[in-house]
Amino acid sequence: MSQTPAPSDAPRPGETLLEKPLPAAAELVFIGHIETPFTTRALCPRQGDPENGPDCTVHLLPELASALREIERFDHIELLYWLHHARRDLLTQSPKSPGATRGTFSLRSPVRPNPIGTAIVRLRGRTETTLSVRGLDCLNGTPLLDIKPSRCDYAPLAKPKPGAGT
Ligand SMILES: C[S@@+](CC[C@H](N)C(=O)[O-])C[C@H]1O[C@@H](n2cnc3c(N)ncnc32)[C@H](O)[C@@H]1O
Repeated sequence: MSQTPAPSDAPRPGETLLEKPLPAAAELVFIGHIETPFTTRALCPRQGDPENGPDCTVHLLPELASALREIERFDHIELLYWLHHARRDLLTQSPKSPGATRGTFSLRSPVRPNPIGTAIVRLRGRTETTLSVRGLDCLNGTPLLDIKPSRCDYAPLAKPKPGAGT
């Protein structure tokens, strides 16, 4: 899986980088992959829309099929995925919008030491090893890390303070 940043990922003014990579610590396994209509990062939305976004398919490894048992009890589920084309060494970032430089941990940018993406998606159907969902923002082929029933009770805590922007 390529971790090499694309030339378009060159640091912008104000951005700072880690001097050397952090030591690896956890052994994750990819449990499947995500099929979306988004073939370039420019085509991905910044965040998915669980109501009106396009239908996407989560493909689980066949040996994990029984781990989906009763998943259809939930109308929304949380997906964690590995944003495999993101660079991992930026400490501060200057996103095109809103333009100001911020610390990586104050952004939902894909660029972070562990490029984990999360999304609450609407579950529309399933087969033995696939889930049909809406609400994704990732590239076609993005590796899947985990699936959990959605819990939204923490969401109000994530609102920016008044006047703090998005
Ligand atoms: C802003 S991130 C949000 C990800 C997730 N919803 C979150 O909040 O954790 C979504 C963006 O990541 C980029 N992206 C999507 N899939 C990616 C991948 N596999 N590797 C690197 N970047 C990706 C696209 O530019 C997309 O618009």
